[in-house]
Amino acid sequence: MSPTVPEVLGDRVQLQQVLLNLIVNACDAMADNPPEHRSLFITTKAVAPDAIRISIADGGTGITAEPIDAVFEPFVTSKRNGLGLGLAICRSIVDAHGGRMWAVNNAGTGATFHVLLPVVPAVTDTLAASNGDDARSDTVAISGSPSTA
Ligand SMILES: Nc1ncnc2c1ncn2[C@@H]1O[C@H](COP(=O)(O)OP(=O)(O)OP(=O)(O)O)[C@@H](O)[C@H]1O
Ligand SMILES: [Mg+2]
Repeated sequence: MSPTVPEVLGDRVQLQQVLLNLIVNACDAMADNPPEHRSLFITTKAVAPDAIRISIADGGTGITAEPIDAVFEPFVTSKRNGLGLGLAICRSIVDAHGGRMWAVNNAGTGATFHVLLPVVPAVTDTLAASNGDDARSDTVAISGSPSTA
């Protein structure tokens, strides 16, 4: 996560759970990929003026559910041992934080899950006063293959 985006006010453990669920899902979706094609991209972006967006993009199977938003419904799963509750819980946590989340299939392979969270107003004001920028982004790439890191 980038230190240059504004902070959000939230339950640290719950928001960690959201990110963990999305990362595990992304890894599951790439399980059949050869190691050099198991890259995960986590991007944080300040969405001016009052929200940040976290995006988790993978190169996996892509979402086969129709419509795509069905993956957020409870007990929707394509996994032999899945409960289909991870994304439903994620969405309820994000909703409780005043944000929203959605998913898209990538133009190439895989899917991207976006989480939009409101910025603490005081932090927004401070940022605006100290920095004229209205949006920045930072991406972290995590690769399944050390040779491609
Ligand atoms: N990154 C992804 N790429 C492709 N499909 C995905 C991705 N994330 C989720 N899905 C689809 O959405 C379904 C629901 O995901 P969800 O996390 O809610 O449940 P699950 O992973 O199947 O089980 P669990 O309750 O253990 O998390 C998955 O079974 C999968 O079909
Ligand atoms: Mg899951």
